[in-house]
Amino acid sequence: MIKTRLTELLRVEHPVMLAGMGGVSYHRLVAAVSEAGGFGCLGASTMSPEQMVEEMAAVRAATTKPFGVDLLTAMPGDLVGQVERIIEGGASVFVAGLGVPTKVVDLCHAHGLLVVNMCGKVEHARRAVDAGCDLVVAQGTEAGGHTGTVATFPLVPQVVDAVGDRVPVVAAGGIVDGRGLAAALALGADGVWVGTRFIATPEARGLPGYKDRLLASREDQTVISRAYSGKTMRVLRNAYTDYFEQHPDELRPFPDQLRRSLGDQAFHLGGDEQTPGVDPEKEGYPAGQGVGALRELVPAGELVRRFVAEAEAVLAKTAGFVQAGPLASQPAS
Ligand SMILES: Cc1cc2nc3c(=O)[nH]c(=O)nc-3n(C[C@H](O)[C@H](O)[C@H](O)COP(=O)(O)O)c2cc1C
Repeated sequence: MIKTRLTELLRVEHPVMLAGMGGVSYHRLVAAVSEAGGFGCLGASTMSPEQMVEEMAAVRAATTKPFGVDLLTAMPGDLVGQVERIIEGGASVFVAGLGVPTKVVDLCHAHGLLVVNMCGKVEHARRAVDAGCDLVVAQGTEAGGHTGTVATFPLVPQVVDAVGDRVPVVAAGGIVDGRGLAAALALGADGVWVGTRFIATPEARGLPGYKDRLLASREDQTVISRAYSGKTMRVLRNAYTDYFEQHPDELRPFPDQLRRSLGDQAFHLGGDEQTPGVDPEKEGYPAGQGVGALRELVPAGELVRRFVAEAEAVLAKTAGFVQAGPLASQPAS
């Protein structure tokens, strides 16, 4: 067992969180992760309000364990109304991506929900904690989906130094197994928030071709592109991302570029295996640089258990590297 401030705060067994991935983290995946002792999080950014309510009910029907819901703060829509539905739906955590959710922090706290913010920079993390967020996810540029420029290894310890004395910090971006969990703990994080690895599971929702492409891709076959939303998003490289790399003058800011990619039939996030008209050479398949490590679909609950068992083995092994010797016995100068 690995116990941290995160497992205590979330009231879960394992410090492994499923990222609230739009288009992917629906009730089957969320329930499987929570039921296995991790923390499942619905990716509601691509759901209608009605669908989000149904999905929360489906999670509750499948497990009594805690779960969260993730929304993108920058998306147009009624954030307060959405958060009220999340509260009624029985989630214990609200996760905000793309911006600090200042106006709903008090509302969540008044109903006993924790507020989590996704952060790509130290300054974001400071603002989130100043606004009352209960934990932050430090997401490095390696991550799939919307992402910044600072890599996980330098980002996590800097966020830990900035806010780790006030809230737990969770590491994200490029973490695909227990070695990543052990490394995150070594960097001072209290757990991990995992996206790409959980797409390659039978429970994940995915468009036609998505999981096959993930399993076939190497670590250098993702690209940060503004082709799909107008904001920087790490996706699998294809003819559509290449086109906009060659024609950057055609890129429009968010949300105009999102309208363009939808109009081009290049972005069907929120669809499923039955969605028609998906062309892998055009489609936006978000994926992180960890993609090259994916070999097969693995049930989500099994993944949670493997993360923990592998991390325990790594931590036990690395502890053995420490030996009493001249350096250890010398007083620090
Ligand atoms: C398919 C996909 C969709 C995502 N959608 C969202 C989202 O709607 N909201 C959000 O906060 N983060 C989103 N992300 C980012 C994840 O929350 C997470 O930070 C990221 O996947 C972690 O990096 P990894 O993919 O290397 O594990 C998405 C990521 C992927 C791969």
